[in-house]
Amino acid sequence: MTTDISFLMCPPDHYDVDYVINPWMEGNIHKSSRDRAVEQWQKLHLILKEYAIVDLVAPQRGWPDMVFTANAGLVLGQNVVLSRFYHKERQGEEPFFKQWFETKGYTVYQLPQDLPFEGAGDALLDREGRWLWAGYGFRSELDSHPYIAKWLDIEVLSLRLMDERFYHLDTCFCPLTGGYLLYYPPAFDSYSNRLIEMRVPEEKRIPIEEADAVNFACNAVNVNKLVVMNEAGKSLKQRLADAGFKVIQTGLTEFLKAGGAAKCLTLRVTEPMQAEIHANIAVESRIIRLEGHLLDTGLINRALDKIVEAGGSFQVLKFDLGEQRQSTSSAEVKVSAPDHEVMEAILTQLIDLGAVNLPQDERDAKLEAITQAGVAPDDFYVTTIYPTEVRVKGEWLRVQNQRMDGAIALTQTANAIVARCKLLRDLEVGEQVVVDIQGIRTVRKTESREQRNSQEFSFMSAGVSSERRVELVVEQVAWELRQIRDRGGKVVVTAGPVVIHTGGGEHLAQLIREGYVQALLGGNAIAVHDIEQAMMGTSLGVDMKRGVAVRGGHRHHLKVINTIRRCGNIAAAVEQGIFKSGVLYECVRVGVPYSLAGSIRDDGPLPDTQMDLIKAQEDYSRLIAGADMILMLSSMLHSIGVGNMTPAGVKMVCVDINPAVVTKLSDRGSVESVGVVTDVGLFLSMLVQQLDKLTSRYHLAQSL
Ligand code: ARG
Repeated sequence: MTTDISFLMCPPDHYDVDYVINPWMEGNIHKSSRDRAVEQWQKLHLILKEYAIVDLVAPQRGWPDMVFTANAGLVLGQNVVLSRFYHKERQGEEPFFKQWFETKGYTVYQLPQDLPFEGAGDALLDREGRWLWAGYGFRSELDSHPYIAKWLDIEVLSLRLMDERFYHLDTCFCPLTGGYLLYYPPAFDSYSNRLIEMRVPEEKRIPIEEADAVNFACNAVNVNKLVVMNEAGKSLKQRLADAGFKVIQTGLTEFLKAGGAAKCLTLRVTEPMQAEIHANIAVESRIIRLEGHLLDTGLINRALDKIVEAGGSFQVLKFDLGEQRQSTSSAEVKVSAPDHEVMEAILTQLIDLGAVNLPQDERDAKLEAITQAGVAPDDFYVTTIYPTEVRVKGEWLRVQNQRMDGAIALTQTANAIVARCKLLRDLEVGEQVVVDIQGIRTVRKTESREQRNSQEFSFMSAGVSSERRVELVVEQVAWELRQIRDRGGKVVVTAGPVVIHTGGGEHLAQLIREGYVQALLGGNAIAVHDIEQAMMGTSLGVDMKRGVAVRGGHRHHLKVINTIRRCGNIAAAVEQGIFKSGVLYECVRVGVPYSLAGSIRDDGPLPDTQMDLIKAQEDYSRLIAGADMILMLSSMLHSIGVGNMTPAGVKMVCVDINPAVVTKLSDRGSVESVGVVTDVGLFLSMLVQQLDKLTSRYHLAQSL
């Protein structure tokens, strides 16, 4: 018997499944046999007594789960962090365990009220004593980890549990002597798996299959080279034997009904302190402030969900509920993350929602110099479509050229510092780029309820429209187009060849002719098919009037390309009278700038098609600048490109027959995007009809 190791157990006198607080207990209320439980418990007790000292704590009537002493607390040296149970069903066990620890002379640490932590069920020492693995996600709160690190003076590695069947760390994770680790990887999120792989070399990892996991193979008691567990499959036993472990299986089926097995039934109370090892707290926390119509816009829920989804946890420190209909609410939330990387991921998302630091916590943005042209530092802040500000030398600077997926670069001009969104490839040596997540905020305007309701586009913001609502959208879009034109605003259209195939060409041409469009973005195809139609009456060889394929028609588009190439470019062809109608014809005539971006599958291409894609992106972004509205007509490729370049606040109308495209493009999380699932030709024809109607009404009013 190794006398320097001792365990605490609690006889199952009052054990039963009385309630359901984990998935194993479901359907098992009062289904376990007390006699069999006693027998199984005694067997385990006997086995352990051969290898270690086993102390007992007196069972208490009314606290059936007290047999699971792993949940009494977490012991290291002479210190113990007492459990704070998540469920009230077990909270009554706390004083009995506390008393036992105190009589044995331990120093007992107690966590603040409402900060759950379930002891050695959720905290497992590396068997070499190098660090503590701590679980969170179901029973224990991430925020308990820094306390444990401080009190026990040990490095804590936080692992996030994802599968509710494995609600305690010791149900799916078991560090073994010699640095080995027995565990069930799917029970953890990917961040945690990476952390495990970083700390435990591959040859020491023993990942198990689901079949073993549900038999609680990880819920094993390890004493030196011995591993005691409920049950293990053949290959797992072999794997453990290869690593030099002796496996003893002892049936604990009655306890499985409550969601526990060998390890849960024991608490190792002799865990030697490692003198040279010290705390190293990776868990980070920050306090952020959110303001706005937090409840009625669902902002607070979204923020809290984002924190948890990304692997963090939170505590709402303050919530001031706006009392009047118009008043905004504000909240202060403490965000915790297992390390800085996760914190960055969480805060970037919260920044997008408009979260800011408390005034006293405001700090300047972190900057790093560009040392290689076209390459940003590793943790550069990735920009979004939302208006952004960065804090430099105590001042908040508005970032210019706001767009998605860029970096924020700072340049010093004669009298000021300028912050701009730049693409990676445009970064220059000597510029400073914002890194990390400090000193960055996005500016979200808070509309009052009324404003929100009257926002022309908000009626659609809840989702993608169905056919029934197309008419309504058309009315709204026509109204907007008319207003923008009258005040000298800017509308940009991106269009794919489907516009021509569906007979929308003439309508789009009319919009251009009447001054509703200030720039056209597309590719080679729309121009080729539009001109083919103007020159030959076909689109890809199909007669547009009769809807039938024309003999030899499949070569029409190549003849068109050839003709334009002969003329030099589209504008020259228009001047020479080669074609006299259509979308491109109107652009040339009215002087609406267009940009055709090339692609690998282009025929020709037309001389106007920009095959240098970097130049094409630059042209697009120049033409988009200052747009009030963008109409995206059946071109996923060009529309996505445009979406990435466009800041929030620009109204977007995306029309496509494919709902997936519409969802993708209109789901920018900004109220201004509208999606319409319909035939684009039909949409355009309805749109010009509606505009005509507006015009005639206008004339009528004038003449009265
Ligand atoms: N019924 C108990 C609970 O849900 C089982 C505890 C198992 N203990 C453990 N360390 N995994 O809390």
